[in-house]
Amino acid sequence: MHIPSLKENLSFANSKLLKDLYEKLDELKDIVKLIDDAIVEDPPISVKDGGLIKRGYNTEIDTYKEASTEGKNWIVALEAKERENTGIKNLKVGYTKVFGYYIEVTKSFLNQVPDRFVRKQTLTNGERFITEELKKMEEKILGAEEKVVNLEYLEFTKIRDEITKNIARLQLTASVVASIDVLASLATVAEDNNYVCPEITTDGMIDIKDGRHPVVEKMIESGSFVQNDIYLDKEESRVAIITGPNMAGKSTFMRQVAIITLMAQIRKLCSCN
Ligand SMILES: Nc1ncnc2c1ncn2[C@@H]1O[C@H](COP(=O)(O)OP(=O)(O)O)[C@@H](O)[C@H]1O
Ligand SMILES: [Mg+2]
Repeated sequence: MHIPSLKENLSFANSKLLKDLYEKLDELKDIVKLIDDAIVEDPPISVKDGGLIKRGYNTEIDTYKEASTEGKNWIVALEAKERENTGIKNLKVGYTKVFGYYIEVTKSFLNQVPDRFVRKQTLTNGERFITEELKKMEEKILGAEEKVVNLEYLEFTKIRDEITKNIARLQLTASVVASIDVLASLATVAEDNNYVCPEITTDGMIDIKDGRHPVVEKMIESGSFVQNDIYLDKEESRVAIITGPNMAGKSTFMRQVAIITLMAQIRKLCSCN
């Protein structure tokens, strides 16, 4: 979802590097659409227990889901109907994974249970029954639910296979995003710390004005770092001698020249012009 806006932002860039990244950045619209059409917003952790395919994606799945919902509504209605028929006010219809659907009657009402109720399970304070009618609906519901789970998993594997076919595109997009991430981080650091864009030459010259050591500068009180120049080339200024007492900043100065040179090379790799 973030990639289109990333691409939009890149479209304003002038540098060759960013333009290349813009060209390469595949928004994967087809894959986004596939997932968006098929997979629910907040899918379950397990892909094998159903509940991950959106309504409207596969009519067969939808049909079985409706059958199961209808069945459940029917069962809710059954409770009221059987209370009415038998006069057992606290008659309850319930479900367990092991025993399936049942009609529960407490001890005190057992004498009102009609013959068509078949005993299924005995509890300490009552009995559970099944009827012909309830058994049929149970088969319908559980059958539909099993179908849904199987069909959803099948559909999931199809989507996964489709995405697998496009893996190279996904990887390319990931690598473009990673490059943008690196460049954006470098840009942020440069902006935050007032770094300047170095000019790279091939004549063996190092000419730094107001150089700073990026790490030492951060360690000491803000604004207290003393900036230093250096000029070195392949002619008259091949060597510089640094003198000073202990803790004068000689090592820092040498390291700062090295670090600045390395940082300049990063910029050269990015070839951002
Ligand atoms: N340019 C500078 N501006 C401000 N403080 C500095 C600067 N260079 C070094 N320092 C501080 O002085 C300390 C000693 O620097 P260092 O380069 O180790 O000295 P030397 O090598 O001359 O003994 C550093 O840890 C840093 O806190
Ligand atoms: Mg030293």
